[in-house]
Amino acid sequence: MEEQVKQRGKLILAIETSCDETSVALVEDGRKIRANIISSQVPLHRKYGGVVPEIASRKHIENVLPVLEECLTEAGVTLDDIDGIGVTYGPGLVGALLVGVSAAKALAFSLGVPLIGVHHLEGHIFANFLENEQLEPPFVALVVSGGHTALVHVKDYSTFELLGETRDDAVGEAFDKVARILGLPYPGGPEVERLAKEGDPDAIPFPKALCEKGSFEFSFSGLKSAVLNYHNSKKMKNEEINPADVAASFQSAALDVLVAKTMQAMEVCGVKQLVLAGGVAANTMLREKLTEAAAQKGIAFSYPNKILCTDNAAMIACRAHYLYEEGRFADLHLNGVPSLPLGKR
Ligand code: KG4
Ligand code: ZN
Repeated sequence: MEEQVKQRGKLILAIETSCDETSVALVEDGRKIRANIISSQVPLHRKYGGVVPEIASRKHIENVLPVLEECLTEAGVTLDDIDGIGVTYGPGLVGALLVGVSAAKALAFSLGVPLIGVHHLEGHIFANFLENEQLEPPFVALVVSGGHTALVHVKDYSTFELLGETRDDAVGEAFDKVARILGLPYPGGPEVERLAKEGDPDAIPFPKALCEKGSFEFSFSGLKSAVLNYHNSKKMKNEEINPADVAASFQSAALDVLVAKTMQAMEVCGVKQLVLAGGVAANTMLREKLTEAAAQKGIAFSYPNKILCTDNAAMIACRAHYLYEEGRFADLHLNGVPSLPLGKR
């Protein structure tokens, strides 16, 4: 009988457990998602108004193997088909990271395949390669999540220049805090966005911090405090608050700064391709504002679909694929690094 030749590309299995999503994915040749299973803990943390690290770690332990099995079943492959194991090793919650890292090390060791440590934010940026087949570096990435706000010049598949990041709160964190002020559930970003649709973005002149030219640093704690002060002073005076106007005015102030700085960064870097990454990239208004600003400057702009914007393992597998190509493997000493810097090895 003729021997059957396996007709498939390099298969990377990746694990993502940096925050409150347990996710395992299989990606073929870096860009083809075979399965991307995400088990969200959001309902569990919602009653505390945010992620409780200890609960997150315990849940990851319970979830990681069932999610792995579901991933293999959906992709129709066995562990023996896997060529490498990618895993998020930072930044993130240390206990949560350790669950994924331990599982990945055990798998890589037992299967005898390379282990690849992935930076979570590089994963978010690489989600764009899964969505946009034509995308190639160089480009500028605006990374906006619950833990980070950063502008990154991606010069090639392994050279990342951090242009600037937030000095204090991340933009997603500001959305979550404003949601809490308005009595909306966690995670607040989608809730604030929904409410903002009914409000007037010019109703309240909230401050737009660090708007001076030439600086790519962000600051969102002043904006968050301005919302809190507005809310408290209205309440003290027994004056009516229009929550939709607060949400719309806050969102507009936060997004205008992101768009203005991103466009300045495009000019300084002299590149004509922009991508969006991270959980806040799911925000429709941010996508619209950037689409408009990019079109005016003749800049190509792309962003991942909403599932690939928030935490998922497919983006980690994509990043791991390119690290595999460069032979950048980790050994079994790999550890979780809660504040892993971007672009440093
Ligand atoms: O990337 P992600 O899933 O986790 C981190 O790595 O932080 O991002 C989660 C963050 C949360 O702060 C959430 O409120 C925010 O992304 N987010 C949004 C939207 N969807 C999620 N913020 C604004 N508008 C949205 N539609
Ligand atoms: Zn993330």
